Amino acid sequence: MKKPVFDIDHATRILRNNDLGGYTIPTQGLYPFQWNWDAAITALGWMEAGDEARAWLELEMLLKGQWDNGMVPHIIFHADADTYFPGPEVWGVENAVKTSAISQPPVLASVVKILFEQGKDRALAEQKLAQLLPGVMAYHLWWYRERDPENTGLVCSYHPWESGMDNSPAWDHPLENVPAADWEYTRRDTGHVDAAERPHKHQYDRYIYLVDFFKRNHFDSDLIYQTCPYRVQDIGIISILHRANTDLLVLCQNRIDNDSTRSLQQSSARTAAAIGALWSEDLNCFVSRDTLTGAQLKTISCAGVLPLFGELASPAQAAAINENLGSWIEDAPFGLASTHPHSETFEPQRYWRGPSWLHINWMIALGLDTYGLSERAAQIKQVSKACLANGDFWEYYNSVSGEGCGGGEFSWTAAIALHWLKD
Ligand code: DGY
Repeated sequence: MKKPVFDIDHATRILRNNDLGGYTIPTQGLYPFQWNWDAAITALGWMEAGDEARAWLELEMLLKGQWDNGMVPHIIFHADADTYFPGPEVWGVENAVKTSAISQPPVLASVVKILFEQGKDRALAEQKLAQLLPGVMAYHLWWYRERDPENTGLVCSYHPWESGMDNSPAWDHPLENVPAADWEYTRRDTGHVDAAERPHKHQYDRYIYLVDFFKRNHFDSDLIYQTCPYRVQDIGIISILHRANTDLLVLCQNRIDNDSTRSLQQSSARTAAAIGALWSEDLNCFVSRDTLTGAQLKTISCAGVLPLFGELASPAQAAAINENLGSWIEDAPFGLASTHPHSETFEPQRYWRGPSWLHINWMIALGLDTYGLSERAAQIKQVSKACLANGDFWEYYNSVSGEGCGGGEFSWTAAIALHWLKD
């Protein structure tokens, strides 16, 4: 019999240990609340662990933090914890359920579609879908209404944390336009994890400035759109949103009113028409763009491969990306490095500057399969499995040595292993 790649019971145990009663924290200490895209990915793990009700509950709990305007925040502070900074008092959001004031890559609808399709309890699946769909649709309409008020087709992001890829080298230039926070604060992350695997203070000072900026502007969407010193069209968010639009529209058939679906269809079509502006001819890949300068952000990163997942690349662009992936994997053979290893900014162990992240690899493999590039998809899967060889489920992996980095016993790594790498 084929030996399993990892211990399934261990992966399941991680979800159970990180379950704080309806929501799953990513890892103990470092991230003691519910995070937006972590929750979606983790729900896939709950499903695979055979607990369908718990999978749906994860998403219900996430939507408890949804704002009246439709935004699903990136952190939901369901309960107090003193091991994380910045907590709810720094964000200053006064809603009944305390949250942050930004969002995160909206993989939610794509996960809802998977849960709905894979659910064995059909009555539960129908009931939960009907319950969640209005909130998920409101979330997508929020992205386009608030983050693309000029109808460019390309939504924008106000904070590196919103990209989920906090310290990607892609954000180095736009962050130069952001002042540093002018008060002393104590980071908690470097108390849990080696500082060599986390962002620098220079970046944190700017992350915190932006948090203060949203609060100072009373979370006013128009004002923030006009004056935020960081406003980026993030190719990762745009691609994940586009894929999620397609998935959501399939789920909406005969279930949700035509005005919303028509509006979303139009926005999605605008994205597809506009995506060429984020293709870099000289790098032969997709990139993000700083909307304040109009400049493309010339970093070859895993975000630039996500248009395959979003089905936004032309066949020629997909072929060019695929070719690039060859040397990418050869020089950093554990998973797909978050920054191309040939890049001057590549650091194989530092968070989003080079480690590989299994949930991203999953999306990329799905995208490659969609374009018929199944050999490369299989290779991405194989190098992702290699990260699990030591039997642990880390937040991310050093893409050159395969060593686990960041938080340990990590929910989304366990979940993606269960969902994708179990065979
Ligand atoms: C952190 O605190 O590192 C998170 O990535 C913010 O979402």
